[in-house]
Amino acid sequence: MIKTVSTTPYSDQKPGTSGLRKKVPVFQQQNYAENFIQSIFDSLEGFAGQTLVIGGDGRYYNREVIQIAIKMAAANGFGQVLVGRGGILSTPAASNVIRKHKAFGGIILSASHNPGGPTEDFGIKYNIGNGGPAPEKITDAIFARSKAIDSYRIADAADVNLDIEGTQTIEGMTVTVIDPVADYAELMEQLFDFAAIRAMFGGGFRVVFDAMSAVTGPYAKEIIENRLGAPKGSVLNFMPLPDFGGHHPDPNLVHARALYETMMADDAPDFGAASDGDGDRNLIIGRSIFVTPSDSLAMLAANAHLAPGYAKGLSGIARSMPTSGAADRVAEKLGIGMYETPTGWKFFGNLLDADKVTICGEESAGTGSNHVREKDGLWAVLLWLNVLAVRKESVIDIVREHWATYGRNYYSRHDYEEVDSAAANGLMADLRAQLADLPGKSFGGLTVETADDFAYHDPIDKSVSEHQGVRILFAGGSRIVFRLSGTGTSGATLRVYIERYEPDAARHDVETQTALADLIAIADEIAGIKSRTGRDAPSVIT
Ligand code: G6P
Ligand code: ZN
Repeated sequence: MIKTVSTTPYSDQKPGTSGLRKKVPVFQQQNYAENFIQSIFDSLEGFAGQTLVIGGDGRYYNREVIQIAIKMAAANGFGQVLVGRGGILSTPAASNVIRKHKAFGGIILSASHNPGGPTEDFGIKYNIGNGGPAPEKITDAIFARSKAIDSYRIADAADVNLDIEGTQTIEGMTVTVIDPVADYAELMEQLFDFAAIRAMFGGGFRVVFDAMSAVTGPYAKEIIENRLGAPKGSVLNFMPLPDFGGHHPDPNLVHARALYETMMADDAPDFGAASDGDGDRNLIIGRSIFVTPSDSLAMLAANAHLAPGYAKGLSGIARSMPTSGAADRVAEKLGIGMYETPTGWKFFGNLLDADKVTICGEESAGTGSNHVREKDGLWAVLLWLNVLAVRKESVIDIVREHWATYGRNYYSRHDYEEVDSAAANGLMADLRAQLADLPGKSFGGLTVETADDFAYHDPIDKSVSEHQGVRILFAGGSRIVFRLSGTGTSGATLRVYIERYEPDAARHDVETQTALADLIAIADEIAGIKSRTGRDAPSVIT
């Protein structure tokens, strides 16, 4: 039986950088998830009889919303749902399943790197048939619909057993519970030289991967330990837990501190890595060296041809605007296109579909390629391992050689989390008001060359996205960028991105915060960060 249930709209279902993210109790309000899912379906056309992929990162409330989504898909006329066993699909694996099985789209339940649990974060996002996050045209339509919705449709059926692979039927729609890892592992085997990596591990190379009690555990166990032969125990925290063990499943130097310390110790393994809640972010640390995400993008782009999947070279590279310019120098040397997009993986989709770019990356620990339409944490780890297996050099040697060749982009992001929204908006408004006056002004020896509010003109669909962050560019290539996060769930998060280019290899060993100290002071001078936020220091420095 299909029920049509009347409902009243919520006013706060605006998707952010990556879908709708709220605290679990918000999602537990009456019809809250149902309204949003129906708003998604109402914003799509032509899915009758088609396939929908559903899966999530295993966080608290995942299973409940998956049951709702399956029953609503049946009531709305989908022909088939593919759902990961246990309700599990990492975000990149979901993207792959959508593409491989030619699905109409997918619903991914995740709040990425945010904590999970009864009072923590949850999220729903819709991905389109290319496997990537829905573009703004669709997310805007979903939001508009959510403000007017008056009913939703749901099948009155028993819950699906998510823990056993197989097929069943609800109101004429088939529901197939699939192995969440198989398709993804097969894709990785096509892209990378597993034999070379296996030989490297066989030769005593030591790897440690921290799955942070999140979704990549089963993937990393299967690929790194079972298929590539790393010793058992190389993958840490491999059981996905609904509350991620009480931690932030965010692979940065704050939340993956233990891994960092392991890698800085005298007896450190050769390679350390971690991924986030839903498996799309990555952290790369060599023995005694952390590789910033911006540098990692540049280094992977420069070496990608060493992996079979990229042997024919790259068509181009894309990075989000706040990501450092390190990759630009690689693109220049390779003579390929370089694209600068707003923050948010969805902006890479058109460029990837049009084959303008092969590799993309963001400073927020995201790297990926045209193999799916999401960033992909394990993919980045495997590409690094493939490069290391071929070059037979240490991470630190590869990093130093890269800097010597291209120069070093010293780079850091300072986050001021959960600041008062009005104060944060005021800071940004005042920055925008200053933009016209900044060019030509000098701050402690650095002269502003240009200052603007970044607007992106998509070269493929010609759409324009404005107000994507304030950029202040100084003569000599230094840069400060200010923007407000689009993924937070309480208050506002101010992000300040600071970058300085250093061509001289004799000066590549300065501690990052020291190398950027003058720019950090200028950022405060221009924006009044301390006085406006009432904070003495950033909450997180990456
Ligand atoms: C998510 C998105 C990324 C984005 C990141 C930071 O991981 O998928 O594309 O770069 O969040 O976004 P924010 O708006 O919080 O800076
Ligand atoms: Zn994520």
